[in-house]
Amino acid sequence: MTQHAAKLIGADLIGTESRLGAYNYKPLDVVLSRGEGVWLWDVEGNRYLDCLSAYSAVNQGHCHPKILEAMVEQASKLTLTSRAFRNDQLAPFYEELAALTGSHKILPMNSGAEAVESAIKTVRKWGYEVRGVPENQAEIIVCADNFHGRTISVVSFSTDPDARGGFGPFTPGFRTVPFGDAAAMEAAITPNTVAVLLEPIQGEAGVVIPPPGYLRRVRELCTERGIVMILDEIQTGLGRTGKLLAEEHEGVEADVTLIGKALSGGFYPVSAVLSNSEVLGVLKPGQHGSTFGGNPLACAVARAAMRVLVEEGMIDNAATQGAYFQEQLAGIRSNLVREVRGRGLMLAVELHPEAGGARRYCEDLRARGILAKDTHDHTIRIAPPLVITREQVDWALERFDAVLTGSHS
Ligand SMILES: Cc1ncc(COP(=O)(O)O)c(C=O)c1O
Repeated sequence: MTQHAAKLIGADLIGTESRLGAYNYKPLDVVLSRGEGVWLWDVEGNRYLDCLSAYSAVNQGHCHPKILEAMVEQASKLTLTSRAFRNDQLAPFYEELAALTGSHKILPMNSGAEAVESAIKTVRKWGYEVRGVPENQAEIIVCADNFHGRTISVVSFSTDPDARGGFGPFTPGFRTVPFGDAAAMEAAITPNTVAVLLEPIQGEAGVVIPPPGYLRRVRELCTERGIVMILDEIQTGLGRTGKLLAEEHEGVEADVTLIGKALSGGFYPVSAVLSNSEVLGVLKPGQHGSTFGGNPLACAVARAAMRVLVEEGMIDNAATQGAYFQEQLAGIRSNLVREVRGRGLMLAVELHPEAGGARRYCEDLRARGILAKDTHDHTIRIAPPLVITREQVDWALERFDAVLTGSHS
């Protein structure tokens, strides 16, 4: 196929998407058709280094051969039984996930938002049954600028006008405090508070890292006041920040941890609620479920995804390459850049407002073979697969340098 014909096919696909699809995303106009490791190719055959990893769902790299093998093998044997019956993949999935994370109980779900919803339901019930909170009075403390998904209850406690606008009436029972402010959290606690729910690093808000000691103080507060600490590690978890879970950077352990995204290495939606404090023990048959949650295909894929993450040293690689990437980005002399920040391979370059928005720089990066995404107008988020090598980081840095310094290499 000629380059021209491929371009027309790409334009045609974009046209069809616009005509038939709900307009709920504003993607870069690149139509991807293949991925391998850190690389992606579009329908015209152009190659790009992926600096988004599907919002950290592809930590293990695109189409990891061992996850693919597990998926194909399981798909040819058994894909779905529903939880009306048992399947032979669920128990080993539980065992391996519990061993990896130190959890005592696991609730398998599909999307990240479902894991968040499931945690909210469970801690409310725990509050009534274990803590004796009066019926329908349970409160959960959340943080401003959070991102936990798109369902009604979850957007009910979003502070983003785009996420909420026009979607009311909202689910009650949430109190919002500033992220990173433990004193504000303490002041918001009432006798009806059953849980706090927060991201260890706010991803969608632009990779916002709380002050040192914040998570430790939140942990202390939760312990002192008998409140469940829920950490949403759907984006930060599974190696992204250079540790298995981001909570480890502060040496804390949440009571309930939410994971998703990279739990399947990007092959399939798999999420889980992990509980260290028997909170999940309040659920009884008939009170919660999901047709696809815990299905054998999901479990087999997740088992392989966890295995390669550990066996292939991806978590350590995220720490090493992430520190180097961040240091080198910070060394780029550009008057567009306000701040470079991040942890592991969860990085962000925040531009000055005068730079005119991050989108144009993402377009420029795309033209040079890097796919990165703007977030909140002025921030370029950088989150490549955790398999990235030093040479590939250097390759990316040359392009970031060119775009941020306006040089034309
Ligand atoms: C921290 C966090 N929680 C929850 C979600 C929602 O996950 P999903 O899109 O799979 O519903 C996301 C997705 O970006 C996230 O980053």
